[in-house]
Amino acid sequence: MADNSEIDYGPLTGLIGTWQGDKGMDVAPEPVGQSDSPYFETITFTPIGDVTNAEEQVLVGLRYHQTVSRKSNNKTFHDQCGYWMWDAATGTISHSLLIPRAVGVIAGGVAKTDPDSSAVTFEIKAGLHNPDWTIVQQPFMRDKAKTVAFHAKFTVDGDTLVYTETTVLDIYGKKFQHTDGNTLKRI
Ligand code: HEM
Repeated sequence: MADNSEIDYGPLTGLIGTWQGDKGMDVAPEPVGQSDSPYFETITFTPIGDVTNAEEQVLVGLRYHQTVSRKSNNKTFHDQCGYWMWDAATGTISHSLLIPRAVGVIAGGVAKTDPDSSAVTFEIKAGLHNPDWTIVQQPFMRDKAKTVAFHAKFTVDGDTLVYTETTVLDIYGKKFQHTDGNTLKRI
């Protein structure tokens, strides 16, 4: 790993810092119907430098940590961490995430810069049967609350970060679109 100060984080540069937002909405599965939870959250993106894989691929990126709390009781009800990495040679963005339920996602995609503004949009996805970008989970979740797909769109424009994400679950005998989204400001 090189000295962080020498690194060009490319399209990820605009994410660096700490973000807060209180306009979140979570739609989660219930045995019958769904549960809608307005939320607030903090996400911190920290530069970690570069890694070299097989002496060939160089990834640069950020480690992140997200803590999400229900507005109704101010209690944290979701914790998530991982990495956003950029492969400058191919333009590929990888988003690796872990949640405490022992479910992990390695999603991939690209970053696009809006020609009319400074906004950068990241669109990434993963699927259980996707040979490239996939999902791993503990046996209980595999059997009872399987994550089968994940896709997300993050747009950073100056000090505003907007995201929407959909986690497709196989739970309670049906497919469920578990969705989250929020607008955050850099603090
Ligand atoms: C802002 C992000 C997220 C929030 C606020 C959130 C919140 C929730 C909530 C409230 C539930 C219902 C069960 C419970 O009350 O604990 C749930 C279920 C679940 N979530 Fe999330 N979630 C988020 C993101 C994710 C992501 C990224 C994944 C995986 C890729 C995921 C996977 C699951 C799974 C597998 C369940 C089913 C477990 C169950 O209901 O027993 N979630 N989530």
